[in-house]
Amino acid sequence: MSEQADLAYAGLSAAARGRGAAGAAKPRGAKAAPGRKKGRQSRPPKPRERATASDLARKQRDISVSEFFAKNRHLLGFDNPAKALLTTVKEGVDNALDACEEAGIAPDVRVEILQKSESRFRVAIQDNGPGIVKSQVPKIFGRLLYGSKFHRLRQSRGQQGIGISAAGMFGLLTTGKPVKIVTRTGRGKPAQCFELVIDTRSNEPKVRRDEIVKWDPPHGTRVEIELEGSYRGGQHSVDAYIRQIALANPHAQIDYLPPAPPSKAPQNKAGKAAAQKAPAPQAPELRRFPRVTKELPPETAEISPHPYGVELGVLMQMFRDTGSRNLRGCLQADFSRVSGRLADEICERAGVRSNRKPAEISRAEAERIHQAIQQTRIMSPPTDCIAPIGEALLEKALRKEVSADFYATLTRRPAVYRGNPFLIEVGLAYGGALSAEEPISVYRFANRVPLQYQQGACAITKAVSGTDWKSYQMQQPRGALPVGPMVLMLHIASVWVPFTSESKEAIAHYPEIVKEMRLGLQECGRRVAIHIRRRRREADEAKKRAYIEQYIPQVAVGLQEILGFANKERDSVVAKLTDVLKRSRKL
Ligand SMILES: Nc1ncnc2c1ncn2[C@@H]1O[C@H](COP(=O)(O)OP(=O)(O)O)[C@@H](O)[C@H]1O
Ligand SMILES: [Mg+2]
Repeated sequence: MSEQADLAYAGLSAAARGRGAAGAAKPRGAKAAPGRKKGRQSRPPKPRERATASDLARKQRDISVSEFFAKNRHLLGFDNPAKALLTTVKEGVDNALDACEEAGIAPDVRVEILQKSESRFRVAIQDNGPGIVKSQVPKIFGRLLYGSKFHRLRQSRGQQGIGISAAGMFGLLTTGKPVKIVTRTGRGKPAQCFELVIDTRSNEPKVRRDEIVKWDPPHGTRVEIELEGSYRGGQHSVDAYIRQIALANPHAQIDYLPPAPPSKAPQNKAGKAAAQKAPAPQAPELRRFPRVTKELPPETAEISPHPYGVELGVLMQMFRDTGSRNLRGCLQADFSRVSGRLADEICERAGVRSNRKPAEISRAEAERIHQAIQQTRIMSPPTDCIAPIGEALLEKALRKEVSADFYATLTRRPAVYRGNPFLIEVGLAYGGALSAEEPISVYRFANRVPLQYQQGACAITKAVSGTDWKSYQMQQPRGALPVGPMVLMLHIASVWVPFTSESKEAIAHYPEIVKEMRLGLQECGRRVAIHIRRRRREADEAKKRAYIEQYIPQVAVGLQEILGFANKERDSVVAKLTDVLKRSRKL
């Protein structure tokens, strides 16, 4: 396989590569400017030739989805090197956890990051999931918008089908290296190894290597992607992500092998690093996040869309695609919570016969049906399609990760936005070693995936800063996050999480969602306020007691002087008074 050829597939000409991976135009030299200025003064500018309609027609071309996302990579979370590394890890881990859970396997996920040079990394994500059927591998990893989750309403981490293939495409664009996949679907089956690239022009995979290899795990998948990236610490780091993913997935075991720490070169007398005797790089340290529970999250059902959430255009498309022969059957079979009786009611209200062929329904009729749906009372969608983390497990996971004095967790009952069921969970840790002087830390999660970027744009942040924390004994600058020793964790679980963009970084501000979050925060706020008040009372009491305690020996000495006690009696007075004080002012 030649790297040259792969870059050509990625839509990069040799000239573009010369200008850097992003193909940024070379800035014009400052020298050119005065010349142009001079020219303008002496000659009137030539009128620009205008394109005709047929000129434009010649330029019209289809745009493949991968060409679009290669140019707009920021939409997918590849806008800077540090984020690109995080997004790649994230997409791989999302898929690993989804696949294991769908197959009913307790996930063992391994993440390895190998630093190949200053700005180049090789990321490997391995799972013990069901593996991938050979014929599907090229499409999954070499084609954008291909996946098993988009056309269904079921709680999962991935939804759009652009996760892992986009990471592979970014790797190819920045390093020219193909994605490597090893997968096995069960004992007795061969392990298959693929190397493939995405042809961005056609959004089709090109397989570079396809062979059977020796691989020990009985089933699972390993994906390796090489990319230009940057490994950093802090709130947006891969390390923070791994800690948070372990927090929200107490049933998973995560092994994490970060890049080797930079070797400390010995200094010579002049203070310069002794280059010739460079020490071997320090061995990276495997970090294991063991599972807190062996139990998998409850299996969630796939649901049909709820009629209230369906837009007119979607409704018309559903009429065209349905397998039902008449309108009544279609409404009943393709939507949730529509019985035969209810379907008749909708048809009657819309003035459309219930035995009409769905494909023949006109736009005007569809519009009447759409309106009739909104006017009909239909039960809320079923909510067994959502699996919360659960209050007990959330607390167990929080206790393991955050050392604090007080913990509160809450799982709210499911609610509905735009016809989609969703559920909010809140976890809170307060006090202990947490810093009291800074704004609280907010951990945001959607379907158990940590969200690390775009905090300001997220409905979760809005709900937290919109809650009145002063009434819960905390400081809060107006309209901002409260200040105090607290970690807050908010989780939204839904069959369709409304992200603000394809990179899945922030939750859209649906009023129903913000309201549920507020209610959850208020309940946890009340509980933490009780704790804070009690702690304050205890502190006050301890202060008073210490104050009184100071005077007890003086009182005893005074009594000794007045009444002529022996030292023994004086000491017994001290003991008695101390005892009375303890009993009367209980902490
Ligand atoms: N590790 C894996 N094990 C099994 N199947 C996988 C794995 N990774 C990806 N897949 C399959 O490939 C599809 C596409 O993945 P992806 O591009 O990340 O999109 P999405 O996760 O949004 O569906 C998934 O829907 C899933 O069916
Ligand atoms: Mg995915």
